[in-house]
Amino acid sequence: MSMRAPRGTADILPNEVKRWQYVESILKDICDRFNYDEIRTPLFEHTEVFQRGVGDSTDIVQKEMYTFEDRGGRSLTLRPEGTATVVRAFVENKLYGSPIQPVKLFYFMQLFRYERPQQGRMRQLNQFGVEVLGSADPSVDAEVIALAMTCYKELGLSSLKLVLNSLGDKESRQNHRKALVEHFSPYKDELCSDCQKRLNQNPLRILDCKTDRDHPAMKTAPSILDYLNEYSEQYFNQVKAYLDMMEIPYVLDQNLVRGLDYYNHTAFEIMSEAEGFGAITTLAGGGRYNGLTEELGGPNTPGIGFAMGLERLLMAIDAENIKLPIDSSVDCFFIAVGETAEKQASELVHKLRVNGIQVDKDYQGRKMKAQFKAADRLKAKYVIILGDNELEDDIVNVKNMKTGDQTEVPLTDLVKTMQAELLGGSQNE
Ligand code: HAM
Repeated sequence: MSMRAPRGTADILPNEVKRWQYVESILKDICDRFNYDEIRTPLFEHTEVFQRGVGDSTDIVQKEMYTFEDRGGRSLTLRPEGTATVVRAFVENKLYGSPIQPVKLFYFMQLFRYERPQQGRMRQLNQFGVEVLGSADPSVDAEVIALAMTCYKELGLSSLKLVLNSLGDKESRQNHRKALVEHFSPYKDELCSDCQKRLNQNPLRILDCKTDRDHPAMKTAPSILDYLNEYSEQYFNQVKAYLDMMEIPYVLDQNLVRGLDYYNHTAFEIMSEAEGFGAITTLAGGGRYNGLTEELGGPNTPGIGFAMGLERLLMAIDAENIKLPIDSSVDCFFIAVGETAEKQASELVHKLRVNGIQVDKDYQGRKMKAQFKAADRLKAKYVIILGDNELEDDIVNVKNMKTGDQTEVPLTDLVKTMQAELLGGSQNE
């Protein structure tokens, strides 16, 4: 048995976690401004949720799910994506009956996909996503796209490309599907084995195939945009008009089909165009899924959302050389020298902590000089010194590490003094 982390997973160590937390705090703040509420769903679901939700013919369901039988013989799957789980929760908890409509949700999720790992492609991955259920208004499509773009912008990314397409409604898709089957059938034997299967199951996905992308039939394939019926075309035009109004630039790509089956109407992806970002450039993907709620046993409810990979977001931040404003310093370091002082230090450190002050101390009986070094390493803003002399006078010395100023503070005033320096708050006894 190997004692290494499984392939496609990664440890996120404390320094790196600080970057994640910063990014997450910005994303949460944006959701707050857009008035989206957080939802948390289980890490695993009944396998059927994804088979029906994501679609039996997708790569995710056919090749990538971590599916297992539990001790009761039920087939369960570690969630490979968030939308199906959120919609399952929406239906099960009857959120369609909530007085506030549409229901606007966001989530942070760990997901599991048995993919071939490479940079930016993990087997355990993290996504931030949003789902809006209960409105078929094109302004919601534009809002969801705007939210995604705002996230990247506020984190400082600028080399971005928003790619947009419409997959139309059911009628448009059926007509397009027929045209695709007619178009690709004469070339069936020249297509890869996956596409040969897709020809019957889901010909739209042929357009997305990496193996066959240079086949001449790809270039001449019928475009969904030529098969949109009037409603779908108008809907798409309105989405584009809202984006224009918000001054969000986009490019149209009629081959953008997305790898999950639930999409209709608006589909979009956001790519990084930063130099050196790597081979996989998709940062986020999403779209409308008006039939999904019914598919999962709920009332007919329109929906739209997107998800962004957090690993890829952090990679893009690095590729664009963005330094996140992370404060890794501690407010105070308590230096105590001598047995009695060390004991008293534990008491004082605790008192400071419960009064809102961030403080750390030495735990290894180190000499004063080594304790100062530890304070430096932690980038302490203040050092509080308690030695024999101070003990005698019931004081501590507080040194401001930035200015070098040192002041004697009576022990009884320590909490108040540090609060005034750092917080301006009140004291809990
Ligand atoms: P998706 O395109 O499968 O869509 O994934 C969205 C994003 O998750 C990708 O653009 C990428 O950034 C990240 N991602 C996907 N797979 C991996 C991986 N193996 N390793 C690292 N990052 C990855 C969905 O998941 C849909 N549920 C999005 C959605 C929400 N549609 C509507 N609402």
